[in-house]
Amino acid sequence: MNILVIGAGGREHALAWQCAKDKKVQRVYVTPGNAGTALEPKCENVILEVAVSDSIAGEHSAVIDFCQNNAIDMVIVGPEAPLVTGIVDACRTAGIKAWGPSAYCAQLEGSKTFAKEFMEQNNIPTAAYQGFTDPVAAKAYVDQQGAPIVIKADGLAAGKGVIVAETVEQAHQAIDDMLADNKFGDAGSCVVIEQFLIGEEASFICMIDGNNILPMATSQDHKRAFEGDTGPNTGGMGAYSPAPVVTDEVHDKVMAQVIQPVVDAMNAAGHPYTGFLYAGLMIDDAGNPSIIEFNCRLGDPETQPILMRLQSSMVDLVTQGLAGELPSQAKWDPRPALGIVVASKGYPESSSKGDVISGLPKLVDADIPAVKVFHAGTTFSDNTQTVNNDDANSKEVTTNGGRVLCVTALADSISEAQQAALMVTGAISFDGAHYRRDIGHHAIARELV
Ligand code: AMP
Ligand code: GLY
Repeated sequence: MNILVIGAGGREHALAWQCAKDKKVQRVYVTPGNAGTALEPKCENVILEVAVSDSIAGEHSAVIDFCQNNAIDMVIVGPEAPLVTGIVDACRTAGIKAWGPSAYCAQLEGSKTFAKEFMEQNNIPTAAYQGFTDPVAAKAYVDQQGAPIVIKADGLAAGKGVIVAETVEQAHQAIDDMLADNKFGDAGSCVVIEQFLIGEEASFICMIDGNNILPMATSQDHKRAFEGDTGPNTGGMGAYSPAPVVTDEVHDKVMAQVIQPVVDAMNAAGHPYTGFLYAGLMIDDAGNPSIIEFNCRLGDPETQPILMRLQSSMVDLVTQGLAGELPSQAKWDPRPALGIVVASKGYPESSSKGDVISGLPKLVDADIPAVKVFHAGTTFSDNTQTVNNDDANSKEVTTNGGRVLCVTALADSISEAQQAALMVTGAISFDGAHYRRDIGHHAIARELV
């Protein structure tokens, strides 16, 4: 089999690595990929134009042509932007098997207003909210509600379009930034203002084939840039799986109150949900979940620890999903996994490119089989990505984005996984590298009780 993975992050490196492990797979192409996917056995980067804005099917022609010319058996789409622009619809029309939701279903992530209305209509628990395009009305609403309060850009903003305002003044500033000063472009031309939720967050990701639901292992991300959950929100600075805050009881509630209603409502709307569905949860002290956000894809960095634990074949699961025959369970390593993101100088405000990375262990390291360094924003110093593995191994790897690596370890406990990941992370260096040493702190606190 030949597979095409779309995307360039740590999530896509983990997906490509999992797919390549399957003996049936001959080649995993990744577009555009990163240095990690270029180095991975059986994987190869290709440069294809992938439409990330405005939905017209023709824009996905580069992907469709590539699939037709390279006998691609399945496409797995990593990031949200091509999903929102209808890459799965375009592939289906061309007779290519692509795993992901249609553009209609991807609105759950693509538009916060769509998602909030959908949750309201289907009684899915979420924070109270109102949508605004007028800054004066938005500020009046904030004045009436008080702080803390959360201001969200309506459209896609790479995880950065959410401001948790501690004060009314900060909320006003966020409204001005989004609605008046257009800092988030079109994504911020409409804002959703929502009630501040209290509790512990978790990521609940499923595979859905239109009817059947396969919940994947649970996980927890760390959104803030700095230790102690301080600093600005990022795309995610590290994650572990499973998340003990998702007890069996919480799991059942999420399936019944959140996931099943999405499947039913999308079917009722004539748009069956297919692909990964990510529910970002806030779980209160009583174990009641509320939805913070839906994503129409796997999380990054959650995917890295989740896939480290997956013992079923990802390729088999996607094949079954595409056939409408998803099993209700996958096989997981009972040991937890934990991934630490190493970010480049200035992230999340800016990012640094071209810094040489030293101390990277070999991707498949026999000495430490339970630690895997997934690449995200990496390239080669000569900027050639489309090389075969032999060429790639002799090249210098450099930074190429905000989140650079995710060092992921499997161990008998979360604290041991943290120690193992920290040990390997500590040996890696590049100018301005920064990472959090406290990834997993919620779960580790529970282990110590
Ligand atoms: P989002 O991009 O919607 O996931 O939001 C990013 C982060 O902002 C979340 O992971 C939460 O930490 C925080 N956040 C978003 N919405 C809320 C809310 N209603 N209450 C509390 N925190 C929130
Ligand atoms: N790590 C959060 C996300 O993927 O949206």
